[in-house]
Amino acid sequence: MKILVLNGPNINFLGIREPDIYGRETYAALIHMIESHCAAHGITVDCYQSNHEGDLVDQIQAAYGVYDGIVINPAAYTHTSVALLDAVKAVSLPTVEVHISDVDARDEFRRISYIRAACVATVSGRGLQGYLDAIDLLSEQLKN
Ligand code: DQA
Repeated sequence: MKILVLNGPNINFLGIREPDIYGRETYAALIHMIESHCAAHGITVDCYQSNHEGDLVDQIQAAYGVYDGIVINPAAYTHTSVALLDAVKAVSLPTVEVHISDVDARDEFRRISYIRAACVATVSGRGLQGYLDAIDLLSEQLKN
């Protein structure tokens, strides 16, 4: 099983940005957690972060035929990007949406998720652990 974990804008600033919301762990710590979890479960994983919408679209397209599924935190693009929704629909790979914070309990505009319509599941508000939960959900989905 080979999966791609994609992160959108400002996730590289974990540990620095709004620690009351996103915690004090860094992006490097997140990647370490994900890699250890995947290694323990026999999953091959690549992680990629970008602040650019088109770059994320390119990565989703490049995943076609290479990965079995995607875990994505589109960050702010969750609430704005039809391009990311269309990219996930285009490649038709099982995809799980993840958010560190509880997006439904924050600003009104964060309740809208374009990408959700193309995702098999959403994990929200579980902190960095949510990525591991999203990987487990994706792995279950791929086994079925
Ligand atoms: C986020 C929530 C988004 O609303 C926000 O723009 C982010 C991070 C999260 O992981 O909680 O950048 O996706």
